[in-house]
Amino acid sequence: MGKFEKVVAICGSPRAEVPDQKSLTQKMLNTFLEGLAPPQVRVFFPHLMNISYCKGCLTCWFKTPGICDIDDDMGLIKEEIEKSDLLILASPVYVDGFSAQTKTVLDRSISLLDPLISIDEEGHCRHELLNPRQWSSVLISTCGFSELDNFDHIRNHYRAICRNLYWKNAGEILLPASALGFVPRKYEDKFQAITNAGRELMEKGEIAEETMNFISREIVSATQYRDFLNPFFKKLKQR
Ligand SMILES: Cc1cc2nc3c(=O)[nH]c(=O)nc-3n(C[C@H](O)[C@H](O)[C@H](O)COP(=O)(O)O)c2cc1C
Repeated sequence: MGKFEKVVAICGSPRAEVPDQKSLTQKMLNTFLEGLAPPQVRVFFPHLMNISYCKGCLTCWFKTPGICDIDDDMGLIKEEIEKSDLLILASPVYVDGFSAQTKTVLDRSISLLDPLISIDEEGHCRHELLNPRQWSSVLISTCGFSELDNFDHIRNHYRAICRNLYWKNAGEILLPASALGFVPRKYEDKFQAITNAGRELMEKGEIAEETMNFISREIVSATQYRDFLNPFFKKLKQR
């Protein structure tokens, strides 16, 4: 019996599911799900849904607890998240953080919280969950540049969310130099490791540090990457 029954994934790349465009975020997510092989899974593509920004009206806290004032597709995502035991956030790095599509879903998730503030064991302010329960979560991300430190902000942001929403951080799958993601054979061993990571998570409840390090290891220097990509970019600019 695996560790997780019901999985919800948010695929926050606006290129996912778009004909003639290849989203590496989606490829990583699909590869991970192959290994995870959960009994039930729902994958949401926020850019293909009707999801508005949070208005900050706090109706979901003070007027209709847990129910957002905006009646749109976020209701369905929230309903599924509440029934799940594992949440996967799959987002490309956009301007050093989550894509707007992913961030909008995260903002709208404040309806999961109770407004009353409590102090945690580190003396830090937190909101309690409106309906306390156990969740695990995983971050899947890719970025255009070649250095691993391009994930510093999204990773810190994700870890802060885990603390604030009471998610157990079960792993972070980070793949830099996304331009290599669709180059034949370049990332084959990394994709294999991403499938293994999914399997590990289902069997053990978390992904081994070693597996995550293998996936995120930089395989080209910044200058090699620049020299590989710039000729393509020059051609594209001339069209
Ligand atoms: C609006 C925008 C902002 C981006 N910002 C960054 C960035 O700050 N750092 C980075 O390394 N890559 C950045 N990228 C590159 C993407 O992370 C990269 O192309 C990634 O592969 C996109 O994921 P996808 O293939 O799933 O669409 C950005 C791309 C776009 C379109």
